[in-house]
Formats: sequence, structure tokens, C-alpha cells
Amino acid sequence: MWAVPLASLALASTAAASLQIVPGATWTAGGTNQHIQAHGAGLIEVDSTYYWVGENHFNGSAFQSINCYSSTDLVEWTFVGELLSLESSGDLGPDRVVERPKIIYNDDTSTYVMWMHIDDSSYAEAKTGVATSSSVCGEYDYLGSFQPLGQQSRDIGLFKDDNGTAYLLSEDRPNGLRIDRLTDDYLNVTYTTHLFPEHYEAPAIYKQDGVYFMFGSQLTGWSANDNKYTTSTNLNGTWSSWADFAVSGTDTYDSQTSYVIKIGDTVMYMGDRWISTNLMASTYIWLPLTIEGTNASLNDPTSWILPASGPWTAGGTETTNEAESSSNTLSNGATVISCSGCSGSESVGWIGGPDNGTLEIRNVTSDASTTTTIQIRFENGDSTQRYASVAVNGVSQVVAFLPSDNGNTPATSVLNAQLESGDGNVVVFSAYEEGYGPDIDRLLVPEE
Ligand code: DGJ
Repeated sequence: MWAVPLASLALASTAAASLQIVPGATWTAGGTNQHIQAHGAGLIEVDSTYYWVGENHFNGSAFQSINCYSSTDLVEWTFVGELLSLESSGDLGPDRVVERPKIIYNDDTSTYVMWMHIDDSSYAEAKTGVATSSSVCGEYDYLGSFQPLGQQSRDIGLFKDDNGTAYLLSEDRPNGLRIDRLTDDYLNVTYTTHLFPEHYEAPAIYKQDGVYFMFGSQLTGWSANDNKYTTSTNLNGTWSSWADFAVSGTDTYDSQTSYVIKIGDTVMYMGDRWISTNLMASTYIWLPLTIEGTNASLNDPTSWILPASGPWTAGGTETTNEAESSSNTLSNGATVISCSGCSGSESVGWIGGPDNGTLEIRNVTSDASTTTTIQIRFENGDSTQRYASVAVNGVSQVVAFLPSDNGNTPATSVLNAQLESGDGNVVVFSAYEEGYGPDIDRLLVPEE
């Protein structure tokens, strides 16, 4: 069982400019040393803290838990706890499907209400489940499952309108995509507000300036496709034709919609890049969405800064530190190896392990003394995560590295650490619990 540290709650309530969102990277959660397990996610802000709730796929596709992580800056995340845990039988038992949990707060009943997709392993039951809690990121009471209005329901979303009226978004395979009005207590559905006859799943509604944007994906299983959106000024009115919001043919930058939310002045698209053969290795594609009038278009920065207010900015230029550089110190068996996809066609392997192979990069440059998101380019040919202890200026943390396609472009793991102004920063990779770390290609350090 994972620990429940709350260290990140002490972070500043505004996003530091040098912390960056790196879509598609390994994001190690504080308190777990693991890549965040919160897929098919929703996000909710309570008292200036963000809570990220999603599916835990650490051990495959079947239900293990619904996890909750917290952050004040949307970059550094700490595991808080399981909102729903594996039970011995029933909807939350072994070999069950529990997907796409979404939470909204009911102001009248002072209750957090979670809806989710409940199914058997062949997706034949097609039901929704409901759970409640008095605490956003505490344990939830599971109330049970049903087919809303007697209709099939697989992928779901929730939308709470400005006046407190809330809606279930529900993919009904025989009939289309539904917007079902919830009862005032949010625990049930009353009637269908709108039925799209077109077949879309992964639904999410975002509203701006009186315009409702419904986002959703086509039905291609775990494979990404060009996700679509439609708009209306009335949930039960006339909706525009479905259109792409990312560049056509990119499969929504290889992702599927999970949620859309405004953070400060930025509308953020949250998507999943599913790895169907190894769901735990699925990454998170969070990107800034430009909304103008009735148009939505997704930006695709490789890294970006999400400020507490003001416009988002692209990550910008970076300085590079090659692992194989002769100015680094390799010890205890760590050695330069060839790596066809790496910059310079070399990386440093044999990091960690029982001999504690160690790579010390001594001349890391930073323009400012600040907490910075460093991108670590790496390769890991295993089907499970590797780990390394990474000490930055003497402060050590454990970083996870998801499986990567060796020989191709290396994968990225993010490291958020305090750098000092100047060229004297030192980053040391060594063993975590005697396991082998990844092969390190290089570090990318943002220039301010
Ligand atoms: C696509 C859905 O959007 C996912 O949430 C999941 O249910 C997969 N299908 C299962 O194939």
C-alpha cells in the first residue's frame, strides 16, 4: 500500500514559471515513486488545491482502485489515497471494469459525488456507478450501479453548469451520446436533455461565454483517433456539426479526451495516450486549448508553462547535457553505450544495479535559482518501470522511467528540482534499491 504524504500541499499556490507540463512523459508522483496512476481522469479544484482522480492500472486493465493525487501547481503531484478500493466481490471486485471517474460537488447537500462507468470484463453490463464523500480526496461510499434511464452507458463524463444543474454525459451504444440531467442531489438521472445520434465516447463538456463545447472521441477502443467537438448555446438546442479540434490526422496528438477544465486563464485539455498492451504505461496528454467564440483548437507544445494567471507559454529553449559527455563522471560500472535513437548515438547504461553504477553530471546550467522541470531523455527496454535515485545539488528523489521503445527516439521522464543560478548544478543518478536504472541519453534544462 502506498504512503499518504501531504508534502506537496506546502507548495506555493501559484505555478512557478519554471515548472512545466511535459505531455507524454513519465510523471513520478510524490509519495509513491511511481508513474501517476490516474487514467481516464477528472480534475477538481477545492480551496486552491487541484485533485486529480482516475483509474489505477498499475496491474493491468481490471479495477484496482480509483486514485486521488493533489497539487497546487499541476506539475508536482502527490498521491493522497484511494477513493474506491478493490473489494472481494461486487462492482468493485476482481476482474471488474471501473472507468472514467468524475467528481462534482453538490452545494445543497455538501457532498462530493462521483460517477463512473461500471462493467464486467467484456463490457457487457454497460452501467454507471455512483459514490459519495464529504471529503473530495477521502474515501467514498459506493452506492451501487444501474443503467441510467434503462439505457446502456459506457464512457461517461459529468458537467456542472453555472446554476448548479448537473448532467451525466453517457455513451449509449445503440442510440448515441446522451446528455442526461441529474437529479438535484446528483445521485440519479431524471431525463435525457439531448441525444446525439452520432457515436462518440470519452465525452467532456466545457462552457465559455455561454457556449457549450462537447468534446468526444470516435469509437476505436484504446487506439487514438481524431477527436471531435460540437457547440451549442443550449444543451437541449441545436448543436453544430462535429469537427476536429486538433490537426486532422494526428489522432488528437495520439490521445483520447478525458476532461477539459479552465485553470487561471488557460483552458486545458486532458487526454490519455493509452498503451493498450500495458495500460500502466499510458501517459497523460495535457495541452492548452484555444477557445474563441465557437472555435476550439488544440495547441501541441512539447512542454509548456501553465501560470496561475495570464497566458500559457511554450517551454522554450533548453540547454542540453549529454550523459556521455567526457565532462561527466561515471563510476561503479556505469558506462557509455551505443544508442541508435539517442542524440550523439550514445547514452550511459549500467546505472544502478547491485554495484550502484553512478552517473554524475556536474555542469548543469540554470538561468535562475528556482524549482525547474528538467526533462530526462532515457531508454528502458523492460516492460515494467525502472527507477533511479536522482540527487540534484545533494537533494535526492526517486524518479520512475516507463518502458520505452529502445532504438527509437528516447522517452522522457520529468524531474522537478531546485536549481541554482549558474553552471554549477550537479545531478547524480544512482541505484534505487539495487535495481538498474534506465539508460540516460541527456538532460534538457529550460532556459528562462
Ligand atoms: C475506449 C474508452 O474510451 C476507454 O475508456 C475504454 O473503455 C476503452 N475503450 C476500452 O477498450
